[in-house]
Amino acid sequence: MIKINENYLKLQASYLFSDIAKRVAAFQQAHPDKNVIRLGIGDVTRALPKACIEAFHTAVDDMAQDKTFRGYGPEQGYAFLREKIAEHDFKARGAKISPDEIFISDGAKCDTGNIQEIFANDIRVAIPDPVYPVYLDTNIMAGRTDIVYLESTAQNSFIPDLPKTPADLIYLCFPNNPTGATITKAGLKTWVEYARSNKSLILFDAAYEAFIRDDSLPHSIFEIEGARDVAIEFRSYSKTAGFTGTRCAYTVVPKDCMAYDNSGAAHLLHSLWNRRHTTKFNGVSYPVQRAAEAIYSQEGKKQTKALIDGYLANAALIRKEMTGLGFDCVGGDNSPYIWVNAKRDSWEFFDLLLNNAGVVCTPGAGFGKCGQGFIRISAFNSFENAEQAMKRIRDALA
Ligand code: MLT
Repeated sequence: MIKINENYLKLQASYLFSDIAKRVAAFQQAHPDKNVIRLGIGDVTRALPKACIEAFHTAVDDMAQDKTFRGYGPEQGYAFLREKIAEHDFKARGAKISPDEIFISDGAKCDTGNIQEIFANDIRVAIPDPVYPVYLDTNIMAGRTDIVYLESTAQNSFIPDLPKTPADLIYLCFPNNPTGATITKAGLKTWVEYARSNKSLILFDAAYEAFIRDDSLPHSIFEIEGARDVAIEFRSYSKTAGFTGTRCAYTVVPKDCMAYDNSGAAHLLHSLWNRRHTTKFNGVSYPVQRAAEAIYSQEGKKQTKALIDGYLANAALIRKEMTGLGFDCVGGDNSPYIWVNAKRDSWEFFDLLLNNAGVVCTPGAGFGKCGQGFIRISAFNSFENAEQAMKRIRDALA
């Protein structure tokens, strides 16, 4: 008899963003004439930068000629992209990462979800609350039960305190999804020191680093001394350059990073992840990697910055308007997300905004217990739609 992985029965019936999409679809079916403004899932709306499109086209043309055609590429990604990443994303910020420590993939969602496979099942996992649901769900799927929640609330300015009981695997995300909170170098240093003294590992999700405009904030955990021994970092081009539909991201596993077997012997996590990656993944397509490479050209840098500046202008407007309506907000300055204290049940506020304003947000409760009473508003839309959404919310709450 075929049996299921019963850990799946411990999960919520459906993934948060599928749940929201279903509610929105039902609303649209009932009100086909209503135009809905989506500030829910963090999906970009603006076209790819011109530099990326040009590189994409050229690479497609390469595929049209036998002489320049590419079949399977290296599973870890082409050297042309890995070298650019090492130089521009790390060396330029004083972080020492070599190209062969970088694994190109089709998304940070997959990498943050898959990485837990290389760790034992009986480890203690520290997961922020509220949190991007993928970290928690994938650990539940794997059958891990020793989970410590790192509460992020107004009391700690949405930066979790160090765990009281030693944790083996720690998930951190800054700028944070969902709260938009950022961490200082000094704050991040306390986590690196904690991991070093507890032989733990930090999984650092930096998918939103391109939104940082405060020069004092770290873009990478590897800007912190000693982090190479105790951290893996995840990056994504989804929000940086509008690649949500194009798919390209990367994960950095430094060769100094170790984890231990039952006898206490140390093993290179780089080798384990390389083994997993080469077995289960066949690389990102050549044209997509060429498009990603173009982000690092002079034009590409200018264009991606302009793209993000546009979303940040929306974020500033949303935060100002929501604050003006009497709601406490965080995020939206170095982040595309604004975390709003709804002063009521978060699904109730979600329904109110959908039904009375035709605006989709994300209910905070979907991100964990501490998200109850909050909503997350995303800045990914046109400025006109952000303005229109705020006008509709003002009217709905009047
Ligand atoms: C979000 O809205 O939290 C993200 O867009 C989801 C994702 O990146 O998978």
